[in-house]
Amino acid sequence: MISRETLEKEYPNYKRCIESAFESCQSHLFRWWDEITDAEKKRLLEQTAAIDFQFVQKLFNDNRRKTKNSLLGDLVPPQITPIPKTARELELAQGARQIGEASLRRGEIAVLTVAGGHGTRLGSNGPKGTLPIAPISGKSIFQLHAEKIRAVQQKYHTYIPWYIMTSETNDRVTQDFFQSHRFFGLDTEQVCFFTQGMLPAVDLRGKLLMNSKSDIVMSPNGHGGTIIALKEKGILEDMEERGIKHIFYHQVDNVLIKIADPVFVGHHLKNDAEMSLKIVKKRHPEEKVGVVVHSNGHLQVIEYSELSHEDMHARNEDGALKYDAGNIAVHMISIDFLEKIYQHGDALPFHAALKKVPYLDDKGETINPEENNAIKFESFIFDVLKYIEKGVIMEVLRDDEFSPVKNMEGENSPTTARQDMINLFGRWLRNAGISVPADAQGNVIGLIEINPCFALDEEELRNKIDKHLQFNGNLIV
Ligand code: UD1
Repeated sequence: MISRETLEKEYPNYKRCIESAFESCQSHLFRWWDEITDAEKKRLLEQTAAIDFQFVQKLFNDNRRKTKNSLLGDLVPPQITPIPKTARELELAQGARQIGEASLRRGEIAVLTVAGGHGTRLGSNGPKGTLPIAPISGKSIFQLHAEKIRAVQQKYHTYIPWYIMTSETNDRVTQDFFQSHRFFGLDTEQVCFFTQGMLPAVDLRGKLLMNSKSDIVMSPNGHGGTIIALKEKGILEDMEERGIKHIFYHQVDNVLIKIADPVFVGHHLKNDAEMSLKIVKKRHPEEKVGVVVHSNGHLQVIEYSELSHEDMHARNEDGALKYDAGNIAVHMISIDFLEKIYQHGDALPFHAALKKVPYLDDKGETINPEENNAIKFESFIFDVLKYIEKGVIMEVLRDDEFSPVKNMEGENSPTTARQDMINLFGRWLRNAGISVPADAQGNVIGLIEINPCFALDEEELRNKIDKHLQFNGNLIV
């Protein structure tokens, strides 16, 4: 292995990062120095120069000291805007819709999709958004989102800029995908990609992992990275130039997302909210969704991995789950609020997650671990909630708005996502008077696909569909 002195002498421009790597006990990064090419040496040094070793060490040490819930105070269920049922609630929702629609018409809303994650649980190579998902046509998740944006534009005679956050690992392939599909009919200037930051993954002793003899394992720094990236990549400025006042934020993986839902936009605006959230009732205590609570005097999302067993299973006297406000990661974020956060200047905290990460062992062989062997550090967008003074938490129906693709099989997989889409379209058709058969579990028997540009919602479908249509088990409109 090459010595620190030799390295520093040969590469004086990289002296600081070499020093920093050695002083942080990460000298193993140069273990294969004599075996790699000059180009690989250069790349490795550049990668090393982009890492703040002291910071990574601090993250690792802080995480070792932290115990579950150590930062949480008493939890209190938050106040929720319910799914409208009474005449009064329906009237309020209608009022909110009108406010939201007016804002959309004025062109104040941008869509922001976070798509920088690795999708490790899905086990797919490509970005999640490129996954073919539509029940009949096999359109990708990105295409479904793009068509919804087009449909909203069409409906409100407006223009919606779409910002997509990727990471270094999937940016090129995501952009190529859009190019090769001609941006799914959107304007090229309308779709804007930007990348989030990366952090190294470490092993359980805090050592950085290597992918190859010249490449360090790096991971996206969590969707909290959106906040910094919006500023650093000039996105916020771009939004302001375009007259955007509020961002509709969502995760790429939810196929039932109601993009720029006017009712949600309206509630957010009507309440002068800084950040708002949509929630669904948790299915069961262990469901892998964050829960929205009040704690330490402010609103918070507590991630499922960080909620104590006791709080996760706590019940009210009536037997219902005490903390059941499941975060579906759909937010409204006001531009003024973002400016306020930047003025605060505080960094978001980092959360540590144990993962299985392939790495190169001491002998230079690739190991695909069966147990968790690494720690990844991520910041979460919802940690900005501690800065808000006003926020709306709006409950929505899971069957109408939340079906994420997380796993290859079972719960939250492409199969469940497709079925959930079919079931939603089936309900729309039934409510329009068309007979659609279902099995004992309530799943539609057959395939249905409705293009958002034909009907964005149930009402539009009712107005457009031929009432005499006979569903023969396969319908695409
Ligand atoms: C996430 C939420 C959880 C919520 C659930 C709903 C977090 C930490 N938790 O859980 O509260 O109930 O979704 O579906 O987000 N992403 C990036 N960059 C990153 C990491 C992630 O863009 O560095 C994106 C991914 O592409 C994905 C989304 O964020 O679209 C969610 O990430 P994931 O790690 O899958 O979070 P979940 O554990 O599913």
